Amino acid sequence: MPHELSPDFMQALRELMERVPTPFYAYDLRRVRAQTARYREAFAQARLFYAIKANPRLRLLEHLRAAGVGAETVSLGEVLRAYVAGYMLDEVVLNGPVKPPAALEELARAGVPTLVADGEDDLARIARYLPGARVLLRLNPDLPVDTHPHLATGRGDSQFGVLPEDWPGVFARGRELGLEMHGLHVHLGSNLNNPADFAARLEVLERLRVRVGRLEVLDLGGGFGLEMDPAALAPAMLALARRFGAELWVEPGRALVAEAGVLVARVWGFKETRRRYLLLDAGMTAFLRPALYGARPPVRPLYQASERATFDLAGPACESGDVLARDVELPVPREGDALAILEAGAYGGAMSLTYLDHPRPGEYAWDGERWEVWRRPEHLPDLWKDETDQPEYL
Ligand SMILES: Cc1ncc(COP(=O)(O)O)c(C=O)c1O
Repeated sequence: MPHELSPDFMQALRELMERVPTPFYAYDLRRVRAQTARYREAFAQARLFYAIKANPRLRLLEHLRAAGVGAETVSLGEVLRAYVAGYMLDEVVLNGPVKPPAALEELARAGVPTLVADGEDDLARIARYLPGARVLLRLNPDLPVDTHPHLATGRGDSQFGVLPEDWPGVFARGRELGLEMHGLHVHLGSNLNNPADFAARLEVLERLRVRVGRLEVLDLGGGFGLEMDPAALAPAMLALARRFGAELWVEPGRALVAEAGVLVARVWGFKETRRRYLLLDAGMTAFLRPALYGARPPVRPLYQASERATFDLAGPACESGDVLARDVELPVPREGDALAILEAGAYGGAMSLTYLDHPRPGEYAWDGERWEVWRRPEHLPDLWKDETDQPEYL
């Protein structure tokens, strides 16, 4: 069952709709706080690093940092963003399979977070540009993770990490290179709702433990789907970390923010082909997850009508894949009525695109009393401001 929006948040949304252009993202900050508290409680003996790719708005990061949550990043830009939000070096972890020399040089200037090395080449490059850095080595657990294939980073055929048979040797190589090898990182994938995946990983790690010995850090990544109960998963993860003699780190992204966010879009067209469509002012450029991962978010009307019907919800792109949801039963809207697309707080605004010259939507957060601007809506002329309209040569 999806998490329902509270009546006062729905009311605040209706008021906001009259003040800002659609489409826009809106977040219930109280839900972020509740989910963060739930994860902090379940993992009270672990360190939490929020995967900022899920929703990187600076104001959100400031709230999470104040709640004692670190930042997990995957690019130089995300590290610098975390520093702007006030994070200290030891509160930031940098992941990602590619760390170009220019990014490492910039980190040497800006401050070096804990790095997750993705393989032997990555270790060597880190040692060259950031000698003595604190490093975790990423494991590819080679498991048939149950999620969309684009999100299953822990499968053996993905490009991530070092396979179990090679991991101890590559870890030892990191020490030879003079790096501070702190521990092991493993991220199974995203949007995991099958506890069997978490259990299978524990078995892989338990088998590896005899060959690895003590570690300072065991970072088990993120991936907690919205149906997962962190309190049910945490004890086994903590027990395993203890057997490694390690501190447990986890990196939830989606779980902290997804349910707090909605995308609000207006209906500007009705169409019957072989299916019945509502045509919205938001589609794949505002919210990419349906097109990219086949996500089918729940939808709620922000209007009333007595007649009901079932619709597919399509966006304004000239692509048949630009459908945000299918077979949604709704009161029949009038032109200009608005819908709230739920579970859009993670990988929503963060992935919005300017493809087709659609400006990215504004983002606002409700704290129970007022709306705070998290990102102003983009404006059209800004979309071509970096383009040359006169000849310019290098
Ligand atoms: C290394 C790493 N950690 C954490 C996460 C967060 O995942 P999720 O948002 O599913 O919790 C991701 C996202 O895929 C990731 O790549």
